[in-house]
Amino acid sequence: MAHQSPVMNVMIGAAEKAARNLRRDFGEIENLQVSSKGPGDFVSNADLKAEKTLFEELSRARPGYGFLMEENGLIEGQDKTHRWIIDPLDGTTNFLHGIPHFAISIGLERDGVLVAGLIYNPVTDEVYNAERGTGAYLNNKRIRVSSRTKMSESLFATGIPHQGRSDPEKFVKDMNTLMPKVAGIRRFGSAALDLAYVAAGRLDGYWDRALQPWDMAAGIVIVREAGGMVSDIDLSGKFLDSGNIIAANESMYDALGKCLER
Ligand code: IPD
Ligand code: CA
Ligand code: CA
Repeated sequence: MAHQSPVMNVMIGAAEKAARNLRRDFGEIENLQVSSKGPGDFVSNADLKAEKTLFEELSRARPGYGFLMEENGLIEGQDKTHRWIIDPLDGTTNFLHGIPHFAISIGLERDGVLVAGLIYNPVTDEVYNAERGTGAYLNNKRIRVSSRTKMSESLFATGIPHQGRSDPEKFVKDMNTLMPKVAGIRRFGSAALDLAYVAAGRLDGYWDRALQPWDMAAGIVIVREAGGMVSDIDLSGKFLDSGNIIAANESMYDALGKCLER
């Protein structure tokens, strides 16, 4: 059974509440795909609603904690030691296109250290969570990163730059280096779930560039507690600032790291 502290129960409760609406809204997407307006506005609304629910639930349970959220940015709390880092809907493009691969991501920082993370896919009902020092879990079962040591057997995920975001040139160089060496490379479209998949040993490694803290916060705790390594692509450890993240099992952390453009 997962170690579930009171604060993790709060995180799970908040995520479940936000998930109910996201699930309902996702169900509507199919109808909206065929309407002339398309689902764009509807999705940004779903996003905002989910963030509002998370903000309300977490504020009620832990008054004074600060927030860093995708839609509303930084909200300082009276308690300067705690901060939630939240993406209410990671994988927006998937959501918008009716692809059931998206997640709520909630990280908790204490004194500047990430101490708890929860990633929840409302459609598959998969809950990934971890608290510092107590291991990582998928639906209450302990998870660990993969033990693969050969690049030729390893499966990786990354993001693909689009619309001026991230670095297309580095992406192409990385691909050229890795394509001949690896078992496969995926672009699933949710950084949070990519990290969760590394923690669960489904993926052997993941890298991405120009991410935001809310894409990564929860996943970082979960990968580390699953025995994985997380760092900046240049191995400086400053990935929360740069957004250039590499996460993998120990062997692939070194092997993948060496292949990426610094
Ligand atoms: C995006 C996803 C995607 C990553 C992008 C993010 P969003 O978040 O995590 O996998 O490659 O950089 O912006 O916009 O769906 O919350
Ligand atoms: Ca988002
Ligand atoms: Ca995101």
